[in-house]
Amino acid sequence: MLKYMRRAMELAENGRRSVSPNPVVGCVLVRDGKIIAEDWHREYGKGHAERNLLGALEGEVLPDDVLMVTLEPCCHQGKSGACTDIILEKGVKKVVVGVLDPNPEVGGKGVSLLREMGLDVMVMESSKSTIQNPTNTDIKNSPFKFCSLSFELVEELIWQNRGFFTWVTKRRPWVTLKMAQSLDGRITPEKGQSYWLTGPESREHVHKQRAQFDAILVGVGTVMVDNPMLTVRLEKSKIQSTKSKNPRVVVLDAALSVPLESEVMREGTMVFRGRQFKKRLAQKKLMEDRGVVVIEVDTDEDGYLNLRQILDELAAAGMTSLYVEGGPRIWSSFLNADLVDEVNVYLAPEFLGNGEVSLPEFQGSSKKIQFKEWKQLGDDVMWRGLFVTD
Ligand SMILES: NC(=O)c1ccc[n+]([C@@H]2O[C@H](COP(=O)([O-])OP(=O)(O)OC[C@H]3O[C@@H](n4cnc5c(N)ncnc54)[C@H](OP(=O)(O)O)[C@@H]3O)[C@@H](O)[C@H]2O)c1
Repeated sequence: MLKYMRRAMELAENGRRSVSPNPVVGCVLVRDGKIIAEDWHREYGKGHAERNLLGALEGEVLPDDVLMVTLEPCCHQGKSGACTDIILEKGVKKVVVGVLDPNPEVGGKGVSLLREMGLDVMVMESSKSTIQNPTNTDIKNSPFKFCSLSFELVEELIWQNRGFFTWVTKRRPWVTLKMAQSLDGRITPEKGQSYWLTGPESREHVHKQRAQFDAILVGVGTVMVDNPMLTVRLEKSKIQSTKSKNPRVVVLDAALSVPLESEVMREGTMVFRGRQFKKRLAQKKLMEDRGVVVIEVDTDEDGYLNLRQILDELAAAGMTSLYVEGGPRIWSSFLNADLVDEVNVYLAPEFLGNGEVSLPEFQGSSKKIQFKEWKQLGDDVMWRGLFVTD
């Protein structure tokens, strides 16, 4: 039944950001059509979902009990012991796995090991063909006749861990561009202005979005004009999984010109600067005294920082998802470098005429976007789409 896997997915969300760069994972144990135990991966370096559930289980696992887990159980020792070990130890006989581990070196091995040990294991992801062709005999012969399949659910399972999947397969974080603009594609009535374009509903939505990401990135231009805090500010009741942890702030500032009194000059912020600007040692030291991490990367002929190197550094620091808040030069550069996975455009109901355009340096090669959703937020509209890759 899909509702069990959906519950496991809901539980997985409780680990959002506290498990990065690991994936969020949830699991449930089903007996006679009822969930009798549930858990999730809570913190990086601590027990995985299956280990948490089975380790705390009172009583024995019965032969018809089904363990349903959103991502393939690991079979390597890692920091907290292989999940396949505890599954075998506790005598689980039936397992339903949502999706396989995307790492080609480990993906499928956990499932194979359990099958070799005689367990019935169904992988929803590899049943995609069965979903498209329900007369397929695999499903008739499956010991999980109770478990209906859904193509959408498999997509949702992959979507839930898009950061982890991107981090593993592309060695960089998932990148989402967030742009707020007027109906005529502008961001301010005049260049260099701080201007509230969208309404409170959109801003609340942006804060909810921030809570989903490991890091938020802005350019020095935005810091100079807006002096943003870039924290998640929502009533506690509205955020269930993010606790008090804010995403890491990343500032692109080739010449290290961000004023020290800016809100973002605080513990943990990462400032990227150009390798050639080695002279500003005193400024660097003052930033580091505040707990800011200053990292050098290469620059291009325009003096802009190399985005691929920045994403490499963020991936190495364990960040699997990046929310690019702007401004326009930064959005243009990410688009020009083909380093965007998703775009969230907030459209405000006004025309700004001669104002600052939203993509001043976009080089214009066409990009195909797959529509995902739109939302009305007060008087604004949020439009979300994914970049189509070959
Ligand atoms: N509507 C919205 O959603 C939104 C969001 C954010 C900001 N804004 C607005 O945007 C305006 C500021 O935008 P902006 O375009 O002037 O500045 P920006 O995009 O915030 O920052 C651009 C600066 O970042 C540095 N940089 C370093 N590496 C870069 C790279 N690879 N690509 C691009 N820039 C790089 C450059 O300065 P250095 O060479 O000195 O490093 C560059 O001038 C403000 O008016 C702000 O209110 C609007």
